[in-house]
Amino acid sequence: MLALVCRPRFSKHSIALTPRVLTCAFTTSVCASAAKSGSSQRWLRRQREDAYTRQATADGYRARSALKLCALDDKHRFLRAGAACVDCGASPGGWSQVAAERIAATTAADGAHASGVVVAVDLAPMQPLPGVHFVHGDFTEAAVQARVNAHLPGGQADVVLSDMAPAFSGKLTAASAISATELCEAAVAFAEQTLRKDGIFICKVHATRGFAMHWRPLKRRLRQQFRSVRVEKPAASRQASSESYLVCLGWKGVDA
Ligand SMILES: C[S@@+](CC[C@H](N)C(=O)[O-])C[C@H]1O[C@@H](n2cnc3c(N)ncnc32)[C@H](O)[C@@H]1O
Repeated sequence: MLALVCRPRFSKHSIALTPRVLTCAFTTSVCASAAKSGSSQRWLRRQREDAYTRQATADGYRARSALKLCALDDKHRFLRAGAACVDCGASPGGWSQVAAERIAATTAADGAHASGVVVAVDLAPMQPLPGVHFVHGDFTEAAVQARVNAHLPGGQADVVLSDMAPAFSGKLTAASAISATELCEAAVAFAEQTLRKDGIFICKVHATRGFAMHWRPLKRRLRQQFRSVRVEKPAASRQASSESYLVCLGWKGVDA
């Protein structure tokens, strides 16, 4: 009964579910007083996160992480019709699905079909997706990057995304934070070589206290190269997760 009262309402790509919405849904005095305790805060968080998982499944996405990219793109509008996009660390394909539907399967404002390109790359295999070229391999290897490049018109991209993460379970350690930063650095180096002027770069970082020193130098480097660099955590990202995203808008070009 409680779950019914608290059930959120979603539209396809705008996530109406916020802590405020959830809190407002509690109309009984039981909910109101329980919401003050730590356990009910955890309960609220679990409800919200489960709701994102249900929403991703209902929308046909392979991973709830798709909703993170939806939220970032709803805010910054970088997945434009006809753009060329590289999705690093793409498997199982949630971000690629979002990129393909927003870039390739959209129609340009003048009514003509704008055919964009999405190139996905991952160490792990990925089931095929319409409109997505998949490259299977380690993105840190030059030969794999060359295979990615071969799919890009003129070898150039408008958007480079990286959700790459080293395999680690449980608590983030210094070793996994360093591996994660190395993956970011590989994505940055690739972006520096392939982005068109005004291009966009987004990569996952671990922003919890004690680990920022690993990626802060990277952020400083990116600040010189992009008009705007911000650290963002989309609502669909689990609160308990250390992940955030470096959102870099407006690549200044090689002469910056
Ligand atoms: C969090 S998952 C990505 C989820 C994906 N964005 C989605 O929406 O389905 C991270 C991925 O990074 C990949 N990865 C880690 N290291 C990599 C590397 N060196 N090269 C390519 N992919 C890598 C992993 O195999 C994993 O599939």
